[in-house]
Amino acid sequence: MHKVTLKARGQEFEFSCAPNVTPLRAARDLFIPIPTGCQRGGCGMCKVKVLNGEYDQDLVRSHEALSDEELENGYALACCMTAKSDLEIIAVEDYEKLQK
Ligand code: FES
Repeated sequence: MHKVTLKARGQEFEFSCAPNVTPLRAARDLFIPIPTGCQRGGCGMCKVKVLNGEYDQDLVRSHEALSDEELENGYALACCMTAKSDLEIIAVEDYEKLQK
């Protein structure tokens, strides 16, 4: 199990995530209000910026919603990633507010 720290909708959440479960699925199982849509890599609503930690990203499924530039710059889809270490992630809408 890895610890995931998620900032979303102005709040911070911590939860455990098994290595074969996406952070989106783990958060939803705990009724954590992570932005979500299609849950299969198409809509981009679950886009996060990874602040710390190692992860795998399903590149085939993520290609519709993430550009190559975003992939290179630490953006990921919470529905198409799995943690390889403890992770700190922030929903893109919260991250963009921090940049202003
Ligand atoms: S929920 Fe649609 S891309 Fe993740």
